[in-house]
Amino acid sequence: MRKNYRLTGIATAAIAALALAACGGGNGEAATDGATDGATAGGGNGTGKSLRLALNQTETHPSYIALNAMGEDLSEATDGRWNVDVFPNSTLGDQGEYLQMVSSGVVDMAIVSAPQLENINGDFVIFSLPTVFSDIDSQMAVLSNTDIVGDIYSSLESSNKITVIGGFTQGERSVYTKDPVETPADLVGKKIRVQESPVFLAMIEALGGSPTPMAYGEVYTALQSGVIDGAENNEISYHTQKHYEVAPYFSYTRHLVGADFLIINTDTLNGMSEEDRATFDTTWETAWQDHTELWKVNTETAKEEAEAGGATFAEVDAAAFQDALTPLLDEFLTSPEQQALLAAIKDAQ
Ligand code: GCU
Repeated sequence: MRKNYRLTGIATAAIAALALAACGGGNGEAATDGATDGATAGGGNGTGKSLRLALNQTETHPSYIALNAMGEDLSEATDGRWNVDVFPNSTLGDQGEYLQMVSSGVVDMAIVSAPQLENINGDFVIFSLPTVFSDIDSQMAVLSNTDIVGDIYSSLESSNKITVIGGFTQGERSVYTKDPVETPADLVGKKIRVQESPVFLAMIEALGGSPTPMAYGEVYTALQSGVIDGAENNEISYHTQKHYEVAPYFSYTRHLVGADFLIINTDTLNGMSEEDRATFDTTWETAWQDHTELWKVNTETAKEEAEAGGATFAEVDAAAFQDALTPLLDEFLTSPEQQALLAAIKDAQ
C-alpha cells in the first residue's frame, strides 16, 4: 500500500514538473539560476520527439554539460526528429525515483548511480566495489566495451523496460567530514551519508562509521543541521553541491572509482529507426568521451574553488581504508557469473 502511494506521489510530482516545463517552454529549472532552456538547447523543430532526461546535478557539472551538448548533436544530426531536454538539479526528484519514472515512461532517460541499479539487479554491485577499476581511463574502456557489459546493460529490459546505454565516470570517491579524518578509526561513531544501497552501507560499516542512507539532494541540509557528520563523493560533487561549506575536511580515501549510467525507457529506444538509433549511439559516444576529458579538468578547478571557499584536502593513509574494504569483494560477488564479470573487467585493464 505504502509503496503504491509513494509511486503515485512520484508520478504526480514528475508530471507536475513536466507540465510546468511545457507551459514555460523550458526544462523545468526556471527557478534555478543560470538555467539553460533544454528545449532550445536541444534545438528541436517542434515536430520531433523530446527525450526528457532527469539529472540530479547542477548545470555546471560535466554530466549536464555533456548531455546538453549530446542533445544539440542529436537534434542536428536527426534534423530535429530526436531532441533531449535535460532536467537538472533534481527537479524531477531523486535517483531512486528516476528508475520508476524511466520504467513507466514518465520520463525517457535519466542518469543514475550504480547503486541505484544494484537495487534492481544485484550484479550491478560490481561497479561500486573498491579496487575493481584502477583509474578513470581503464574504467571508461570497460564501461564502453559491449563484449564485457552488453549483457548486464540489457538485463533490465524485459523486467523493467530499462536499457542501460552506457556509463559516465564519477571519478574517485573519498570521505569528507566536519572534523578531520586520517584513519578508519577516526570514522568510528561518525554518521556518514551513503547512497541508498547495500554495498555503500557495508562500506561505511567496514570502516567503522555509521552509514546513513539519503538522497543526494538532501545531503547539504543534513550536513548543515548536523544530522550527519560527513559524506563521501568526488571533488566535483563536493564543489558543485557546495558540501565544502558545511563539511570542510576532504580526506583522500579514494575508496573506489564510481560509475553513473545513462538509462532509457526500452520502448522509447525501440521506437527509433535504425538510422536514428545509430546516430543516437554516436552522439552518446561523443558525450561520454567529452565527459571524461571535462572530468579531469573540472576535478582540478573544483578542488581549487573549494579550497578558496575554506576546504582542506588531505592525503591520508588510503591503503588503510582500502584494506578495510577489500573483504567486500568476496562478500558481495558470490555467483560464478559475477566472478566471471570481475575477471573480464580486470583482464581489460
Ligand atoms: C555522484 C554521482 C551521482 C550520485 C551522487 C551521490 O555525484 O555522480 O550520480 O547520485 O554521487 O552520491 O548520490
